[in-house]
Order: sequence, then C-alpha cells, then structure tokens
Amino acid sequence: MEKFVINGGKSLFGEVKIQSAKNSVLPLIAASVINDGKTYIENCPKISDVLVMMKIIEKLGGKAYFEKDDLVIDGRSIDCWILPCDLTREIRASIFTVGALISRFGYASTCAPGGCNIGDRPIDIHIDALKKLGAIVRENDEIIFDASYGLGGSVTLRFPSVGATENAIMSAVRGKGVCIIKNAAKEPEILDLQRYLNALGANVEGGGTDTVVVRGVEKKLSCEVRIKPIPDRIEAGTFALAAVACGGEIRFLEESLPKYLFLSEIFRNNACKMYLKNDKIEGVKVTERPKGFGRVIAEPFPGFPTDLQPQLVAASCFAKGLTVVVEKVFPGRFSFVEQLLKTGADLSVCDNACIIDGGKELNPAETYAGDLRGGAALIIAALGIEGKSLIGGTRYVDRGYEKIEEKFRGLGADIRRVEF
Ligand code: EPZ
Repeated sequence: MEKFVINGGKSLFGEVKIQSAKNSVLPLIAASVINDGKTYIENCPKISDVLVMMKIIEKLGGKAYFEKDDLVIDGRSIDCWILPCDLTREIRASIFTVGALISRFGYASTCAPGGCNIGDRPIDIHIDALKKLGAIVRENDEIIFDASYGLGGSVTLRFPSVGATENAIMSAVRGKGVCIIKNAAKEPEILDLQRYLNALGANVEGGGTDTVVVRGVEKKLSCEVRIKPIPDRIEAGTFALAAVACGGEIRFLEESLPKYLFLSEIFRNNACKMYLKNDKIEGVKVTERPKGFGRVIAEPFPGFPTDLQPQLVAASCFAKGLTVVVEKVFPGRFSFVEQLLKTGADLSVCDNACIIDGGKELNPAETYAGDLRGGAALIIAALGIEGKSLIGGTRYVDRGYEKIEEKFRGLGADIRRVEF
C-alpha cells in the first residue's frame, strides 16, 4: 500500500501554483459533451477524477487528451447517450453528464454516481428538477431520462445543490423552452459553467445567483472554445490552513485569488494575515499560533466552504483555544476525526458539529484517509506535528490534488510517497 511519509514540525515558506478549480473542471468536461467541436480547458489538474471523466468522454465516442497543461475534449464524434455504469459509479461528477447528454440527444441513461464517503450522496434533487422541467424519468438499475419533447418551466430546488443546479442548466441549453432554476447554488464554479456554455452559443443568465434562467437554443452548438477556469479556492485554502498549522508564509504563484474565494472568517484572526493586492489574495502569512476560531459554519456559498471543513478542523488543533465547526452541507462529513484522535488531539463530534480544544501537544501517528478532504486534513495535521507520521489512502487525496506532496515539498515540507 502507498502511504505519505511526513516528518512534520517545519514551517512552510515559498510559492505554490494553484490548479484550475476541480469543481469547475469536472462540470466543464461534462458540459463539453454538448459541443460538437473542440473544447480546451486550461491549467487542468491531472487528478484521478479528471482521468475518469476523460474515459467517460471516450466511451461516449468522443476524444479526450492533454496538450501540456490543457485538457482537450473533441466532441465531434460523440454518438452515444448511455453512460457506462462501471465509470459513473467511480465518481460523483459523472451525474453532471446527464444534463449535457439531454441537451445533445434529448435522452440520457446512467446508474447512480459514486463519490467520496462523506455521507449519503442521493440524486433526488437532480431527478426532481429534470422531471419538473418536463423530462420523463424511468428508474430501475439504470436511470433513463427522456426529454425528447423538450424542457421548459420553472423549478425550485429544495436545497441549493451544486450538481443539481449544474445538471438542470446543462439539460436546458438546447431546445425551444425557457427554464428557470430557483434556489440555485451560487458557488463561483457555476459562473465558469455559464461562461463556457455562453461561449458555445447558449443563453444562460444568473449563474452565481439563486435564480438561473436558460433560454434554449435550437441550433447545434459546434465551435472551438478555450476556457480558463477560476483557480481552485479549495486547494488554495488547503495550503493556507496548512500554514495555520505549521506557521510560515505562502505566496500563490501566477493566480491571485479573488477575495470572495477565501477564508475571511479564518484570516480575520490577528495571527493569520492575508496579502491583498487590488482586492485579490496573493498569499498568507502566519506569524504565531492563532487563537481558536470560535464558531465557523460550513454552508453553501457564500458561506465557509464544506470542502475546507476537514482542513479547518485539522488546523484548529494547532490554534490555542476553542473552535466549533458546524457542518450544514454534508452532516456526516466527520469520518476523518477518528483518525485525527490518534494524534492526541482534543476533538469531539456532536450531531453536525465538531468541537476542537486546540493547542495541546500532539504526537505523530499512523492514520488512513477515507475521503478526499479528510485526507487533506490528515496531511495538514501531520505537517504540523513534530516527528514521523504515516498516512494511507493516498488515492483518495489524488482525486482532487495533483502531486500534493511535490507542492508541499516546494514549500519546505518533508513529505514523500512510499510503497509499503
Ligand atoms: C459538489 O458536490 C462538489 N463536487 C462537492 O465537492 C461539494 O462538496 C458540494 O458540491 C457542495 O459544495 C463537485 O462539484 C464535483 P451538492 P455535489 O449536490 O453537487 C444533498 C470535493 O471535496 N443532495 O451541492 O454532489 C447532498 O447529499 C467535493 O471537492 C441531495 O440530498 O453536492 C448534500 O447533503 C465533495 N440530493 C447536499 O445536498 C441530491 O440530489 C449538497 O450536495 C443532491 C444533493
């Protein structure tokens, strides 16, 4: 088994290049199925979830390959609307392809998607939205969507689901109808999707707000489109929270992050400073052990991102005093805590909240990642603890971070992959 081996206790100094946002790139790959042309996604991370989506594109008849750091999707030969169940069960993002297939063919077939073990991953909001917009959905082992009569109307999501918002948008791109999605998710990655679809010739408005309006276009969408997704706010936040645990100063290479993409709740603390230039974040500096962060709620955008909740819990183990992290998106997203407890950290989970009494002396430990962001949390903890730690489950971390150990080594950390 492959493990990360970390000799922790070193401060982090240096520059790190932030990848294009994973949660932009994955829906963009799905959306490229609508394009009967070539799509270029710039600075695309070569993470395992991207590699699975590339296989799905190939199974649908398309081509997907890298040209240096750009991912190229050639959709001209896509001729199938049945998603391969063996691949859809591997990743959550596969479900986004349903909407794109509906726009291209009027039909889609899939099996329930996979995804990280962070609690239930139902797709009822996706199915309900597509039904309310006019699709006929038959659910057996496979789920078949028939939207050949066209989509139109309005739907209010019971929860601002990111994926369901993206799926509903993509399903409505081609056709005669107008589709209105209310209580839509407002994550910035949805704006990337809107930018791409409109560059194809679609008519999408309101992305990034709670009401999105899609006016169907009847013409085939076929062009060469190049898109540069926003930087990955979760990757940047992961490095920033590692600086909280280890101390040090990290600058983000090339990509400075818009202020809204960041952790204002965390970096108001006097020990944690953000470098701002023209209202953009160029880096962070942590000069001393911060105080506890008080109560932080992980909730839909523009709240603190659930995808940074585990990393914040880990960083809070090094802050002196109390932090309470409340998880309002995936209430079950605390499975990593039992691993963190092996270090002697003072953590307890009650319902959907984790209470951390930070600043204790922690010990290196052997832990195991069971999901992507939980794995990132274990890396942050190990980097902050003096001594040798081991972390299994590297494959989970590789789902969302490209060569994370190389990036941390570039910041002075002693971390490597070892086969045991
Ligand atoms: C996207 O997942 C992201 N994944 C997740 O990132 C992220 O945590 C999540 O949005 C929330 O921001 C991608 O974009 C590929 P949701 P998604 O639908 O769309 C419930 C990471 O670590 N729900 O917004 O699957 C669901 O169980 C990953 O990068 C239903 O009940 O998330 C959850 O409690 C993890 N029924 C809540 O809604 C549904 O049909 C939010 O889920 C859909 C969702």
